[in-house]
Amino acid sequence: MDLSQEEPADWWEVEALYDLCFAPGRTALSSYRLRDDVPPVAQLCLCLWDESDALAGVIRYWPIRVGGQSALLLGPVAVHPTRQGEGLAGLLIRESLKRARAAGWARVMLVGDYPYYRRFGFEKLEGVQMPPPTNPDRVLGLSLTPGAWTGVSGMVTRATPQAAGHKDATDP
Ligand SMILES: CC(C)(COP(=O)(O)OP(=O)(O)OC[C@H]1O[C@@H](n2cnc3c(N)ncnc32)[C@H](O)[C@@H]1OP(=O)(O)O)[C@@H](O)C(=O)NCCC(=O)NCCS
Repeated sequence: MDLSQEEPADWWEVEALYDLCFAPGRTALSSYRLRDDVPPVAQLCLCLWDESDALAGVIRYWPIRVGGQSALLLGPVAVHPTRQGEGLAGLLIRESLKRARAAGWARVMLVGDYPYYRRFGFEKLEGVQMPPPTNPDRVLGLSLTPGAWTGVSGMVTRATPQAAGHKDATDP
């Protein structure tokens, strides 16, 4: 298994794996509005390629703002149906979080299942509001530096395209 940063040429293969793993209409989810016209954080977007060069798993991250503070939005993460249950998502999540911490990001959030993400240290975020309709119980956060979510609340908003390209995406 080869773990590598997603290259621009991988984009459509990664999209195809997301289409395979998620229900149709995934891009209608409110979290996708935070990604519109904003480049992902390239150094945190990772691909797992298997021995036959097939894409086994992927993760992407976007820069966002929460109550005016910068944060990472984890996801989407997906593992090919034939490779699920082997710990590949865990590998992608742990490795990308390690890189995020090393790059100086302070906090990360996602919209997902608490029973799955709590194993990585994610907790429910109180007072952090995703664009509707989002079940607040699925809004989860992790501090990459101690106390990074303390006092951070409010609406989750898009990083501006310009800020994403010049500051948020590369320089937390
Ligand atoms: C969720 C997903 C990424 C997990 O990938 P994976 O490589 O199979 O995950 P791992 O092998 O690291 O972990 C598997 C474990 O997580 C558990 N798990 C998976 N999804 C879960 C969920 N939604 N809630 C609770 N536990 C979950 C499995 O039961 C398994 O438990 P075990 O370790 O006790 O056997 C994969 O199933 C997938 O691509 N699903 C479709 C897309 C998706 O839902 N992505 C997440 C969006 S929030």
